[in-house]
Amino acid sequence: MCKSWIGQAKMSESLQNESASVPSSEADSEIFPTDINAATTLVGLFGWPVSHSISPQMHNAAFVARQMNWRYLAFAVPPNRVPEAVGALPALGLRGVNVTVPHKQAVMPHLQHWTPAAEAIGAVNTIVVEEDGQLTGDNTDGAGFIADLQAHNVDPAGKRALVIGAGGSSRAVVYGLAEAGVKSITILNRTVTKAVDLASTMQSYFPEIKIGSAAFPDDVTGSAQDADLIVNCTSLGMEPRIEGLPWEENVEFREDQIVYDLVYNPAMTRLLQLASTDGATAIGGLGMLVYQGAIAWEKWTGEAAPVAVMQQATNIIFERR
Ligand code: ATR
Repeated sequence: MCKSWIGQAKMSESLQNESASVPSSEADSEIFPTDINAATTLVGLFGWPVSHSISPQMHNAAFVARQMNWRYLAFAVPPNRVPEAVGALPALGLRGVNVTVPHKQAVMPHLQHWTPAAEAIGAVNTIVVEEDGQLTGDNTDGAGFIADLQAHNVDPAGKRALVIGAGGSSRAVVYGLAEAGVKSITILNRTVTKAVDLASTMQSYFPEIKIGSAAFPDDVTGSAQDADLIVNCTSLGMEPRIEGLPWEENVEFREDQIVYDLVYNPAMTRLLQLASTDGATAIGGLGMLVYQGAIAWEKWTGEAAPVAVMQQATNIIFERR
């Protein structure tokens, strides 16, 4: 008998003795670090980099809460390997992935279907692997923003919105607002041509809503008066440059105005501080992050997402940072 075989036999005997001497659940938790097994269903995140993401904790907390044998992993996909990574999803049996920077547009040509939201926003943040293996690209950012507004008892329907910024997140917010039936949208941006382009694109999808553009910061004073809902979609005020302000210091907020800052780090931005001091309703962007994830989770699993659990997981991560 070969020596290494004897060693293995002894080891397995000692493992059997150990597991016989403790209750099985305790033994399981000692031997297996998690309950991942051959039946585990996988979803995840494609980005580059992805190490900063809190999505794995948020989604896995939801799987644990629902006692589902699913796991969410973050995949750092180099830009030149996006086609391979997307193509591998059905072959590996993943149910879907979230997509983050810089791949939100790059994945699009490799999908068989796009939802109207993904098409209008021009970016995909969620891929769903359909039962037949076809890939559908969706964008849950706009719907996540609206869901968080509603969670704060704000109904955007009929409101006059002022959106600051004309980048990727602004496209999603403008789409979400238009879908939710706002009365009008004014887009302010430092680079005015981008605001003009975004307004014109969204106007073609929503001819019934008045969508205009203007310059940031010059037109803040003129636009503030007519706004019921003000949304910051720029990075101004974000860590580490928390002194940034996507507003004009001397322009006061009204008590009936709602100010939503997509920036969630810090939780209380300078913009939200000013709004709150003036008596306006001030809402930070962490809830949008949770809801865009919850909506994606529901699309993959077909179950109602445990939003409170996802919110709690997100809060814990941010408190620890
Ligand atoms: P995201 O995906 O978060 O929307 P993005 O697409 O890079 O990021 O867009 C960033 C937005 O913040 C843009 O509207 C940008 O304005 P420009 O289009 O003029 O670049 C805005 N932004 C970033 N830094 C800014 C600054 N210092 N002052 C004003 N606007 C700023």
